[in-house]
Amino acid sequence: MIHVQHLTKTYEDLRRGRFRAVDQVSFTVRPGEIFGLLGPNGAGKTTVLRILSTVLRPSSGIATIDGYDVAYEPAEVRRRIGFVSNNTAIYDRMTAWEMVEYFGKLHGMTNETLDERLEKLFEQLRMNEFRDVPGGKMSTGMRQKVSIARALVHDPPVLIFDEATLGLDVLVARNLLEVIRDLRMAGKCLIFSTHIMSEVERLCDRIAIMHQGRILDTGTLGELTSRHQEDNFEELFFSLLSAHENERHTIDESDDSSSAVMEAVR
Ligand SMILES: Nc1ncnc2c1ncn2[C@@H]1O[C@H](COP(=O)(O)OP(=O)(O)OP(=O)(O)O)[C@@H](O)[C@H]1O
Ligand SMILES: [Mg+2]
Repeated sequence: MIHVQHLTKTYEDLRRGRFRAVDQVSFTVRPGEIFGLLGPNGAGKTTVLRILSTVLRPSSGIATIDGYDVAYEPAEVRRRIGFVSNNTAIYDRMTAWEMVEYFGKLHGMTNETLDERLEKLFEQLRMNEFRDVPGGKMSTGMRQKVSIARALVHDPPVLIFDEATLGLDVLVARNLLEVIRDLRMAGKCLIFSTHIMSEVERLCDRIAIMHQGRILDTGTLGELTSRHQEDNFEELFFSLLSAHENERHTIDESDDSSSAVMEAVR
């Protein structure tokens, strides 16, 4: 189970000064559920997922994985998660098999359990045809499969996919979505971030729409479309985003005018 409450991450930036890349984000993901994090570039998806995977510390708020706090119990958290992004480092000189085996060993798996696990994974992800190909000679799809196998090797209950289908052809992307559905059937708790609307429509049980660090709304596709009285998900997405931007402009302008008033008073 993933539990996120009022999660906030602030950054310093030359252009924006101190700003919130993630702003008071809250959600829960249960076992057997695929939770979609949908948002445009810069929305804050990767930042949330990197906090969940213990790579980044939150500025405030709490995130737990199976009850373990990501900021204070990172080793316990790492044991329970698998993280798949689209830019995982693949070692040029190691074969697909060796790489997944290596990560299994890092997780403390023994040779007997590893062999059985690897056979199963390579079959499930259709990786047998390139099990002996070294990283340096792999295609994007092959590399992505290796990073998925790496994330699954220790059979974690929670899986985090950050734009995992980026750069994959339709066949490989379809295969990945099937694998994710199988993982849901197996009772895993899954987060899937993307900016591709059709993927969340097809795959996710619940969806959070994220923009400028905030979650604008969360629900099943049916809940979202009925709440906003808009059957077309793409239209719904854009209207939520533009309403949020307008709201922000209004707030910013009123901030400007109040500071102008303050200046005048001085
Ligand atoms: N190390 C950093 N320092 C300053 N700002 C950062 C840093 N990392 C990310 N940001 C900013 O935080 C915001 C959120 O970035 P993030 O990568 O989480 O977005 P995203 O939703 O994953 O976008 P994309 O779809 O492009 O992957 C962006 O405005 C980005 O510029
Ligand atoms: Mg990202």
